[in-house]
Amino acid sequence: MTSEGASVVALSGIRKEFTGQVALDDVSLAVQAGQVHALVGTNGSGKSTLVKVLAGVYSPERGSVLIDGQQVPHLTPARATELGLRFIHQDPALFPQQTVRDNISIGSRYRGSRGVRVDERRERDAARRALSAIGVDDVSPDVRLGALSQSQRTMVAVARAVQDLQGGQRIRLLVLDEPTASLPEHEAERVYGVIRDVAAQGIGVVYISHDLSPLLALADHVTVLRDGKLVASRSSSGLDEAALAQLMVGEEVQRATSSTSRPGEVVLSCRGLRGGRLQPTSLEVRGGEIVGVAGLLGSGRSTLLRLIAGSQPTDGGEVLVSGRRVPPGKPAAAIAAGIAYVPEDRRAQAAFPNLTLRENITGAALSAFRGPLRIDERAERAAVRALLDEFDVKPRDTEKQFRFLSGGNQQKAIIARCARLAPEVLLLDEPTQGVDVRARAQIHEAIKRLAARGTAVLVVSSDFGEVLDLSDRVLVLRQGGIKTTIADPATAQEQHVHHLAGTA
Ligand SMILES: Nc1ncnc2c1ncn2[C@@H]1O[C@H](COP(=O)(O)OP(=O)(O)OP(=O)(O)O)[C@@H](O)[C@H]1O
Ligand SMILES: [Mg+2]
Repeated sequence: MTSEGASVVALSGIRKEFTGQVALDDVSLAVQAGQVHALVGTNGSGKSTLVKVLAGVYSPERGSVLIDGQQVPHLTPARATELGLRFIHQDPALFPQQTVRDNISIGSRYRGSRGVRVDERRERDAARRALSAIGVDDVSPDVRLGALSQSQRTMVAVARAVQDLQGGQRIRLLVLDEPTASLPEHEAERVYGVIRDVAAQGIGVVYISHDLSPLLALADHVTVLRDGKLVASRSSSGLDEAALAQLMVGEEVQRATSSTSRPGEVVLSCRGLRGGRLQPTSLEVRGGEIVGVAGLLGSGRSTLLRLIAGSQPTDGGEVLVSGRRVPPGKPAAAIAAGIAYVPEDRRAQAAFPNLTLRENITGAALSAFRGPLRIDERAERAAVRALLDEFDVKPRDTEKQFRFLSGGNQQKAIIARCARLAPEVLLLDEPTQGVDVRARAQIHEAIKRLAARGTAVLVVSSDFGEVLDLSDRVLVLRQGGIKTTIADPATAQEQHVHHLAGTA
């Protein structure tokens, strides 16, 4: 669908530095009207930074932004909006406590233009129109955003970004920075549908994702960044997933080796555990064993992990670690019992954005470094540096503030923190969401290494291919209970899991 002629939006020779680090080095990008332009690269390669330059959030040290071939000297976020550029950033600024209607109207003309009073009816109608323009009819404008599923929230973010389509304002460009990172396949399809519709209206789309296969199906053109530099910009036709991964990484991507650990004694056992969505559930995980949990949204998969981790109150049943009962509903008790937990929404729940990478990694395990009087900082730094190496967290700067790490590197850092605890039980909810192909393989290796040291691992993922790849055994959850167990995931088909879990 690429049209000829001048690009609607272009970046030329962009350089962006952060203290002591070059995030973008001479990067150019040109988006045509109606084009779906994929922007790919490993974690930390500079994608979100480039998007923020385009949004006027960062001003580059060098290079220029061109709209319809005209240079825009001092781009600000307000100017970008006026020029018809719309963004869904990697951390979309949505407000869970507010209604869908409020979230869509923030920044729109219905707000503020009439003083303190808000015209609710107009707002509601506008929200409804914005949603239905992108084919969403199952979301009420008056419901609280926090009550929606991930995919519905993503749709609200999309609706907010493209709402002016009906208002007569010309929208030139829609940029989506990993909108589907935590969406299961069939939910992500909805977002792909919207992207196709938007492009069909002549709007340029820049799309960022680590999910390479749907990305290739969607994109007309692909631009690849590596370490802040442009390595390729070409048509997507004739490009397959392996070739694209190789362009991103610069070498062939190795798959994780298969698990070598031999399961030992039962370490984790749940007996009749129930609470929230979860019906009474019993299961056992041995030391060295990786047990996958496959299930759809709402199947109780995350509830299961939360109950074991003590971060949600139980309604009954018990959790034992190496035969010892763990007091329920208390995260601290679970940690003391040797349970490490990586929640789904880890950036919000498990990280301290304003502290350093080092503090984020050691925070939970500080006591190990406490000498008689004070923390041995040298030892702490060395230990953290070793972990950054092991998990390939970039940059290798222990003193960098956590919030300045790229999305994927934040994930790796949190998993590194768990590894430091050498836990008896490791609970992982969506361990590779939003991480690149290489990081994904590295995280899989890391999980297997932990298992090989005797940790009992329970891992939830909506990517059933990943569950099968990683696990020694897979529990299929459906409507709050274990429906069946797949004893030999290596030979099972992804399609079969979908069938058992309740789709396709
Ligand atoms: N505000 C900032 N201050 C300092 N460094 C930053 C800042 N924002 C980004 N960086 C650094 O710039 C580099 C590029 O980060 P960016 O977020 O653009 O990566 P990305 O390609 O979007 O990665 P991901 O796939 O993980 O989202 C990273 O090394 C990151 O640590
Ligand atoms: Mg990013």
